[in-house]
Amino acid sequence: MTDCPTPVVAVIVVAAGSGTRLGRSHPKAFVHLGGSTLLEHALRAVFALSEPVQVIVVAPEDRVSEARAIAADAAAASAALGHAAPAETVEVVAGGATRQESVRYGLAVLRDGVEIVLVHDAARALTPPALFERVVGAVRDTGVGVIPGLPVVDTIKRVDVSGGILGTVDRSELSAVQTPQGFPRNLLVAAHDSLADEATDDAALVAAAGHRVHVVTGDARAFKITTPHDLERAELVLGVRNPAPAVVLPRVGTGLDVHAFDDESELWLAGLFWPGERGLSGHSDGDVAVHAVCDALLGAAGLGDVGGVFGTSDSRFAGAHGDVFLEETLRLVTAAGFGVGNVSLQIIGNRPRFAPRRAEAEALLASILRAPVNIAATTTDALGFTGRGEGIAASATALLVPLVLAAPSLAEPPVLSLDV
Ligand code: CTP
Ligand code: MG
Repeated sequence: MTDCPTPVVAVIVVAAGSGTRLGRSHPKAFVHLGGSTLLEHALRAVFALSEPVQVIVVAPEDRVSEARAIAADAAAASAALGHAAPAETVEVVAGGATRQESVRYGLAVLRDGVEIVLVHDAARALTPPALFERVVGAVRDTGVGVIPGLPVVDTIKRVDVSGGILGTVDRSELSAVQTPQGFPRNLLVAAHDSLADEATDDAALVAAAGHRVHVVTGDARAFKITTPHDLERAELVLGVRNPAPAVVLPRVGTGLDVHAFDDESELWLAGLFWPGERGLSGHSDGDVAVHAVCDALLGAAGLGDVGGVFGTSDSRFAGAHGDVFLEETLRLVTAAGFGVGNVSLQIIGNRPRFAPRRAEAEALLASILRAPVNIAATTTDALGFTGRGEGIAASATALLVPLVLAAPSLAEPPVLSLDV
């Protein structure tokens, strides 16, 4: 870079941890949150700062080039938002076995001219730029180390190894600290150079080296993503959490069928054989009532219609009776995740007189579909093709119930066992 002013502030974003507690197959900073990695989220805030900063990303050794690409994406995203992202000032270095070691590798590439160093966890991916600005401003004002912290809201107990309470800690003295933690460069570098003992944050090292560190007000959005629950929280904060699964509603379908009388055929209607009655034409047995029911069931399940499912070219259904169609339809809707709630069927025609065998037909269809079936029959007052005795029509409505809703009534009652 040539025409950018030399940065006085550097931000080291440590992203070299493995994320054991998050339990993903890849390192935590490379886990996605709403379409971008945690590292990219963290870097976007850094690139949104009002002054040019040297950005140092500390990545796992085998992900240095990936981190470089992520940094470029974050810089581009910030530039698109109107921030003058100084992408040329990004360095990516390989991290170490501990966080402290990773910070040290980041410190090693600080540029000349940098006077204030912020160390930030990539895992605090939603930290707003304002918190960085607040820390930088406070380091400038005070000349000492500054870290963000929030009051502890829970009551804190000291406990022994068996869980016995030893006492209640005065929480007014406590602060839950976050990152970015900012320090005058020389203090931080010296603290890292002089102390070998591992510390979980940089403030502890600087304080152990005998320097005062101030806490400024932190930000709830700077929480550290450590566990799967934290990642869910981050998704909620960003508004990218998948909406709750849609309520599974019952489904309704309708079916209509018409067949002309055919004196050469026997009559099969609503699954029953009707001796002595005029038959109906059709590829199968011409049972309009059953075909209407099948259409209603298939339609409710979104599986098309009888013609599409039971093609006339399929020899299994040539001359087949209603039970074959209904059983196959039931198999299909069950496979699609539904049970039959109920079926309502209307038969329209002058003949046969349906009432005497209505209960028989209802019982047959209900036993096949394992659901209540009601059958009504009507004439059309001598109107239309049915009124003229040219054929029979049938119309059906079916209600399907998603099996997840139907399951409790199908399941055995739970068996309770008591340990005595
Ligand atoms: N970190 C690092 N190098 C390490 C260990 C941690 O750069 N050797 C970074 C992490 O990438 C993270 C920050 O330090 O951004 C805070 O650490 P933590 O939340 O503990 O992350 P991990 O160590 O990755 O997670 P875990 O402890 O669950 O394995
Ligand atoms: Mg860790």
